[in-house]
Amino acid sequence: MSISVIALSGSLRKGSYTTQLLHAFAEAAPQEVKFHMVSLDELPLFNQDLESNPPQPVKEFWMAIESADAVLLASPEYNRSYSPVLKNALDWGSRPEGQNKWKGKPVALLGCSPYQLGAFGAINHLRQVVMYLDMPVLQQPEFYLNQAGDKFDEQGKLADEKTKKLVDALWTAFIAWIKVIKPGLSGA
Ligand SMILES: Cc1cc2nc3c(=O)[nH]c(=O)nc-3n(C[C@H](O)[C@H](O)[C@H](O)COP(=O)(O)O)c2cc1C
Repeated sequence: MSISVIALSGSLRKGSYTTQLLHAFAEAAPQEVKFHMVSLDELPLFNQDLESNPPQPVKEFWMAIESADAVLLASPEYNRSYSPVLKNALDWGSRPEGQNKWKGKPVALLGCSPYQLGAFGAINHLRQVVMYLDMPVLQQPEFYLNQAGDKFDEQGKLADEKTKKLVDALWTAFIAWIKVIKPGLSGA
């Protein structure tokens, strides 16, 4: 039985380190994982007036969340918080009222920054929000990719061996966590 994991990048930038990091996660995904990057490019800014008759990109986004067993969220840090792109996506997924689509989905959080702290401030805020959304969040290992500009090659591929090991370790812990939360996925 495969485990469906959707991944969201909090950056829309073409050369985004955060998105490159998620590509490295896709490449390192265990065989039992069906990995799907959900693009947030077309998602409109949240507007409560649109909820009852949402545009197509919102409908597709809701379907992507509903079909997922688990969620990987990666964010850059903007002014010591996570990105508005990601907040917008989380807000859409939590609506309409009483239909929070994130509820019960195991989630792992990835911080990414070209600077020293690895987006710690971003992930610290993001953790509070996913807890409110009732998502069981992987606590350990934490994942903060710092100095991201030094970790990828010219093609945008993860080139840092130490980080590759951390990616593998995160996957191992996350899969174990998903199976704790959703024992039906252990294939037992
Ligand atoms: C509005 C803005 C605020 C930023 N604030 C922070 C910050 O608080 N901490 C940090 O490490 N980097 C900060 N940065 C730099 C980003 O980490 C950097 O632009 C990074 O490359 C963005 O992620 P991406 O490569 O995935 O697009 C900021 C960038 C922008 C545009």
